[in-house]
Amino acid sequence: MKAIIFTSMMTAGLVSFNVSAQQAASVYAGEHRAEVVCSQCHGIRMPSADAPFPPLAGRDAAYLESALKQYRDKTRKSDIMNNIAGSLSDQDIENVAAYYSGLKP
Ligand code: HEC
Repeated sequence: MKAIIFTSMMTAGLVSFNVSAQQAASVYAGEHRAEVVCSQCHGIRMPSADAPFPPLAGRDAAYLESALKQYRDKTRKSDIMNNIAGSLSDQDIENVAAYYSGLKP
């Protein structure tokens, strides 16, 4: 009995470790994509005051994800963003949303 409890505690510990490692990886991937692609228009932290592009830092992750999916399936129209979001996978979208939502605006 003791052995079973011990084993299940170990398993629970390993599972939560894996989850946090995965989240770190996806924020990292999102950061990379944001630096290479998105920051050209949106900036990373502080877009210049006169930038015509909406800021993304600190915005709700669920909002960013749904906006990007709408651009991807063209239910939200923007020539620029329809093109960019068209090449993003669900995983890419989750990654950049996790990255930008975690930044201080
Ligand atoms: C070439 C410039 C450009 C690039 C690069 C770009 N965007 Fe955009 N983005 C825009 C413009 C312009 C808008 C406003 C479009 C509109 O009117 O809906 C926008 C809007 C958005 C919005 C909606 C914001 C809101 O307030 O509703 C999100 C989310 C977004 N972009 C995410 C991204 C992400 C993530 C990337 C990188 C993968 C990216 N964008 C790359 C120009 C760009």
